[in-house]
Amino acid sequence: MKILILNGSPRLDGNTRTALHEIEKGIRANKSGAEVEFIDVACRKLSPCIACDGCKENGGSCVIPDESSALVQKVFEADVVIFGTPVYWWGVSAQLKMLIDKFYSKDTVFKEQKKRIGLVIVGAAGPENKEYELIRGQFQCICDYLGWNLLFTESISAWNVGDLAKNTQKMTELGDIWKKL
Ligand SMILES: Cc1cc2nc3c(=O)[nH]c(=O)nc-3n(C[C@H](O)[C@H](O)[C@H](O)COP(=O)(O)O)c2cc1C
Repeated sequence: MKILILNGSPRLDGNTRTALHEIEKGIRANKSGAEVEFIDVACRKLSPCIACDGCKENGGSCVIPDESSALVQKVFEADVVIFGTPVYWWGVSAQLKMLIDKFYSKDTVFKEQKKRIGLVIVGAAGPENKEYELIRGQFQCICDYLGWNLLFTESISAWNVGDLAKNTQKMTELGDIWKKL
């Protein structure tokens, strides 16, 4: 099983990365045979989709010379993709959104796959804030459109660097996510 973990937070010592690393640790310790790759999307050279449709004439690869084609190919090859995003203005980070927009280049082939998806959302606001449901809803729509299966959503309240690491109950839950894959 190929598992791809995509960190959409530019804060490399931040809570989103902490959450994803805890999930990764649990998978590596408990799911022998799983091939896991962790990518910090913010460290990759990405540009926004400009709706040129060049990808449709180019075998499903974006024609803009950035790293999006390589990353979309990794998504294509993965059985499970776990997305992590900080909440920025009630939505996903711009870095992650740039990559998601490039899914347009392979939407036809993506629809032929039964990919399994995980989602980790980290915001400063408490769990009652509707931002978590907005982002989960966006991913549910993407999954419905592509025929993918949203396996789990983890909504986490954490503000400053180190906040999540202090939340031992949530860290334990994250370490057990492998059971859902
Ligand atoms: C540009 C920006 C916008 C933000 N917008 C929100 C928001 O709408 N709601 C919220 O709860 N937190 C918001 N936050 C706080 C972050 O979601 C929070 O600090 C989170 O822990 C960031 O994840 P990270 O630690 O991985 O960077 C925002 C932070 C930034 C930098």
